[in-house]
Amino acid sequence: MTLPLLQSLRDSYAFDVTPKFDDLGVFHVPFESMGDGAPVETRMHEGVLRGERIALIAESGCGKSSVISFLLGPTAEGVFPVRVPVHSLGHEVTNADHVADMALAQLALDATTAVTADGIAGSASGSRRELTRSAARIRRLGAQAPAGLLTGAVAEEIRRQESTSQPIGLPEKVEVIFQCLQPLQQDALMPVFVFDDTDRWSASREEEIVEGFFGRAIRWLTDLPAAVIVATHTHYLDSGSGGESLLQFLDTRVKLPRLPSADQLGRILMARVRVHLEGEGPHAAPSELGDVVAESAINALFDQYREGASLRRVLQLAHIALAEAADAGAGRILDHHISAAIRA
Ligand SMILES: Nc1ncnc2c1ncn2[C@@H]1O[C@H](COP(=O)(O)OP(=O)(O)OP(=O)(O)O)[C@@H](O)[C@H]1O
Ligand SMILES: [Mg+2]
Repeated sequence: MTLPLLQSLRDSYAFDVTPKFDDLGVFHVPFESMGDGAPVETRMHEGVLRGERIALIAESGCGKSSVISFLLGPTAEGVFPVRVPVHSLGHEVTNADHVADMALAQLALDATTAVTADGIAGSASGSRRELTRSAARIRRLGAQAPAGLLTGAVAEEIRRQESTSQPIGLPEKVEVIFQCLQPLQQDALMPVFVFDDTDRWSASREEEIVEGFFGRAIRWLTDLPAAVIVATHTHYLDSGSGGESLLQFLDTRVKLPRLPSADQLGRILMARVRVHLEGEGPHAAPSELGDVVAESAINALFDQYREGASLRRVLQLAHIALAEAADAGAGRILDHHISAAIRA
């Protein structure tokens, strides 16, 4: 490929390992299209629409957030995702009351944003980066506003709860959340509570936190007509009694497969290349990944992956190698750029 295009990929951080959550879905290559036939995304999509509680299991950096963004991105159909940011709760994440408070606050926030008609357009064009326009290529249609959500009696109830100094118990909180979900159901939207930041718990007390979170803090969700997705690290399943509790609460387990071949890694890189070169004109993106990354270089990256590196780590190596290649004035990423990235 031409050097300016390679430089353009470098400058736009085409292999950025931490893109915005919405962009993860744009870059996502469905795992179910990769080979062994396990219907990962379809199974999850159907499960979510049926209101299942799903443990999405993988090692760190291997695609959990990518799948969630792909399925529940800003304009996903038929669902109303509520991403509950429990990380900030610290050790309180084992406390059901605190988690329910946070879920209610997030639900109120998401719903308020969604009901403002202008808010929908505003958030679509305002807070999302230009890249997310490519989301149209994926199975996505316009977001549906849950009309009436948080209006009338429900809004009144939440205001009353907020203004009262009397703390209410967990059953009452769950009842308030239940009431908030009713209008969504009338609009045929399935609420989905997503816990995707469970990987940032303190390592020192991880086992205790895993046990408390899965065993106590999110159990109240069973009483709600809603789907649940919990990003779950593979090793949580074997952690003391935490693993056992997890199995009881989450009725569906979806384990992300490892990439089967260098070709599939190539597809992931190519998806990024295409999206990033869209702005350079209709024919800017090369038709072959080989024009951007030599086959031997992809094999070298895949070797790293096979030896245990996460996809995040592999993308990071690709990003460093891209910078090396563009800085050196090369026409594409070669084997020795990958070697240099590994040494860096
Ligand atoms: N199927 C995929 N298609 C395209 N890119 C992917 C895919 N899976 C993972 N990636 C990329 O790999 C990187 C890591 O993925 P992701 O952030 O989803 O991992 P994770 O399992 O959520 O990690 P963590 O447990 O640390 O949160 C991201 O940059 C993401 O874009
Ligand atoms: Mg993640």
